[in-house]
Amino acid sequence: MYTTPFHTADLTGKTFLVTGGAGFIGSNIVEYLFKYKAGKVVVLDNLSTGFEDNIQPFLSLPNFQFIKGDICNPDDCSKACAGVDYVFHQAALGSVPRSILNPIATHNVNATGFVNMLIAARDAKVKRVVYASSSSVYGDSPILPKVEHQVGRLLSPYAVSKMTNELYGEIFAKTYNMEIVGLRYFNIFGPRQNPKGEYAAAIPLFINALLNDQAPAINGDGEQTRDFTFVANAVQANVKAMLTPIANTQGDIFNIAVGDRISLNKLINTLKDLTGSAVNPTYRAERAGDIRDSLADISKAKNMLGYAPAIKIEEGLKYTLEWFNRGKFKV
Ligand SMILES: NC(=O)c1ccc[n+]([C@@H]2O[C@H](COP(=O)([O-])OP(=O)(O)OC[C@H]3O[C@@H](n4cnc5c(N)ncnc54)[C@H](O)[C@@H]3O)[C@@H](O)[C@H]2O)c1
Repeated sequence: MYTTPFHTADLTGKTFLVTGGAGFIGSNIVEYLFKYKAGKVVVLDNLSTGFEDNIQPFLSLPNFQFIKGDICNPDDCSKACAGVDYVFHQAALGSVPRSILNPIATHNVNATGFVNMLIAARDAKVKRVVYASSSSVYGDSPILPKVEHQVGRLLSPYAVSKMTNELYGEIFAKTYNMEIVGLRYFNIFGPRQNPKGEYAAAIPLFINALLNDQAPAINGDGEQTRDFTFVANAVQANVKAMLTPIANTQGDIFNIAVGDRISLNKLINTLKDLTGSAVNPTYRAERAGDIRDSLADISKAKNMLGYAPAIKIEEGLKYTLEWFNRGKFKV
């Protein structure tokens, strides 16, 4: 997936911490860092929604350290940040429905855990923290494409937790003179995204259904649109956000997407073509907290970080299907 690096710096002398590194996006960041010879990579993950399998290839490397720990525990955060130069903070409880069912759990991990990590990063004097925010912070804003400074009213506890990250990111950057960058991801998909469980995301759910000759279930009429973003583009954004000098950074936020959108109905048709499946989707009620349309304006990340998402949805779906066809999730 990574034929050319997204960075020019030499990574050999640098130590990186990836929180949530056993999860989907985090493990893809770890893979990139090792491909380009990072000096040391530390993963802090409690394996609540991630898998040791995702970091299996790295466990035996002498410059890899896996800390099975919790960002809700300040001591685990301090231990993980010791001697670290750069922090990619990916650990969180994803999913809007999960947050509606259990707002306290989402708050504890996503908001309090985030502050624990910022304090540990501050005390360890890390050079920069790049963290995962979410397009959910746009809430009910009907404006398309979404531009960073125009947000609406929030629609879920998950969105509140991510907006909380952005507020704390800005305040810590200003108050403690830290370099902190937030990335608002828009529907990331790709290899190692878990297709199982009630909180699985749309693309892995649909692929898993089609590969098993089952009807994918669409919430709503399927005409809602999303700016689906292949994970290698998100990795690129993380690397650029971490290593690009940003003048006067005070908790900057960037949309991370492709800048294009498709409906779920079109997505299913593309997946049917790619898998050769003839199964049609079923339709059920819309989900609380879901938005109708989503499309990012990515010019800020392009201009300030040199972010250039090279992999479009169809190519990304092919890579994702290859992973499913190789992987343990195919029945
Ligand atoms: N996937 C997307 O489309 C998307 C979109 C917007 C934002 N995000 C954000 O990106 C980040 C990564 O998401 P992902 O899709 O890779 O999810 P994921 O569930 O695959 O990864 C999250 C990882 O964090 C770990 N984790 C959870 N709670 C923890 C805790 N208390 N302590 C330590 N580790 C903990 C999990 O075990 C898991 O490995 C999250 O912050 C998520 O909110 C993802």
